[in-house]
Amino acid sequence: MEEVEEVSVVASDHIGAQVGKRVTLRGWLYNKRSSGKLHFLEVRDGFGIVQCVMARADVGDELFAAADKVTQESAIEVTGEVRAHPKRPGVFELSATGFKLLAATTGEYPISPKEHGTDFLMDHRHLWLRSKRQHAILRVRHTIIQAVRDFFDDGGFTLVDAPIFTPNACEGTSTLFETEYHGDKAYLTQSGQLYMESAAAAFGKAYCFGPTFRAEKSKTRRHLAEFWMVEPEVAFMDLAGDMDLAEGLLTFVVARVLEKRRAELAILERDVTKLEAVKGPLPRIRYDEAVKILNEHRADKRAKGEKQEDGTELADFRWGDDFGAEDETVISGRFDRPVMVHRYPAECKAFYMKKDPENPKIALCVDVLAPEGYGEIIGGGQREDDLATLERGIEEHKLPKEPFEWYLDLRRYGTFPHAGFGLGIERAVAWICGLPHVRETIPFARMLNRLSP
Ligand code: 4AD
Ligand code: MG
Repeated sequence: MEEVEEVSVVASDHIGAQVGKRVTLRGWLYNKRSSGKLHFLEVRDGFGIVQCVMARADVGDELFAAADKVTQESAIEVTGEVRAHPKRPGVFELSATGFKLLAATTGEYPISPKEHGTDFLMDHRHLWLRSKRQHAILRVRHTIIQAVRDFFDDGGFTLVDAPIFTPNACEGTSTLFETEYHGDKAYLTQSGQLYMESAAAAFGKAYCFGPTFRAEKSKTRRHLAEFWMVEPEVAFMDLAGDMDLAEGLLTFVVARVLEKRRAELAILERDVTKLEAVKGPLPRIRYDEAVKILNEHRADKRAKGEKQEDGTELADFRWGDDFGAEDETVISGRFDRPVMVHRYPAECKAFYMKKDPENPKIALCVDVLAPEGYGEIIGGGQREDDLATLERGIEEHKLPKEPFEWYLDLRRYGTFPHAGFGLGIERAVAWICGLPHVRETIPFARMLNRLSP
């Protein structure tokens, strides 16, 4: 086989600047079509996919035959002259003059261009990452994360990393992953929030961004056992300020994705007009108003003679309950952008929520529901800053007090009003990319029935 001459290796997303020049692409064969005299090799190099047109007349019989035998996902090098696609502006191709097989596959690549079931694809996630849609999703994820970091870094926040091993629960004891820690019991963190409250007193504005863990026993489209959460916490900020912050973050992130990732959104066939609508101000409604929306919806269904699944009469939503996935879809369906639902009943929220001074049955909290039925993407609120009330909350939630002593110190030494929230990155990616399930939003999903690859 003829050696490729020394020509500079170029990343496929930079070849537009090399029109008329000879370059080398190094990557893997994504796809191949052939006619008698021409091969159309799609070369995937990690940065994009470039079609390389190889004419027998240009490369000779031997190289042409070698290229004909190359299998999907073999590692290859193709040299050729860059030219603009005759019909598609902004698209460039290579007319090949050289070709080198770097590593052939040892057998047939498991993921062929034909359809595969999701379980099969998830089992081959280590390879599935190479395909066009997955590539697009994870690039959007990258841009979302970068935007999140820029938003906080440029907004005067200090990054303070929270630990993964923790001695106490943050979000209730039912979803704790327990582990052994040198003879002691420890848990994988459910949220860095409590540590960020300590950081808020040290830095004013702090955020953490890391993996969090929930031993969810249910299989849903929205739950992962391991997910990434960004959690800002700000001293002397109240619930209204918290909602302003969440609104600023979400509109900033969506604008950044629209600016940088149009091509990926097109691959995902995302309706971008839905994202373009995401501008401030975002609607803010009280929990009570959300309940009214649900009950109107249920009354409509009753009027049409619809029953519950078990055949019983469709009941009104019970004040005090948290919303289920279906409820969230009904509520968010009334709005064309994320809706902030605030002031939930304290009984359905965590122990650290500050009670509304006007009504202690209500927590000064907020959930942000994504539009189009993508569900809750943000949860947060103002924190209880009164020592005695917080101690009562720990008791009422039947949590052991001792592991929270350090947290209570924050109320003993210069307690201060403060608020924050957590944005689940995978839920945000699912919404922005328009994906029905969170499993494709993270490189290697961890779910009830999946720990591999
Ligand atoms: O509403 P959550 O449980 O809130 C907290 O953990 C707070 N301590 C955050 C804070 O105030 N600093 O979780 C926050 C977000 C949810 O809105 C959702 O986007 C995501 O984290 N989330 C999950 N994402 C994927 N899989 C799961 N099992 C998730 N649980 C929560
Ligand atoms: Mg929540």
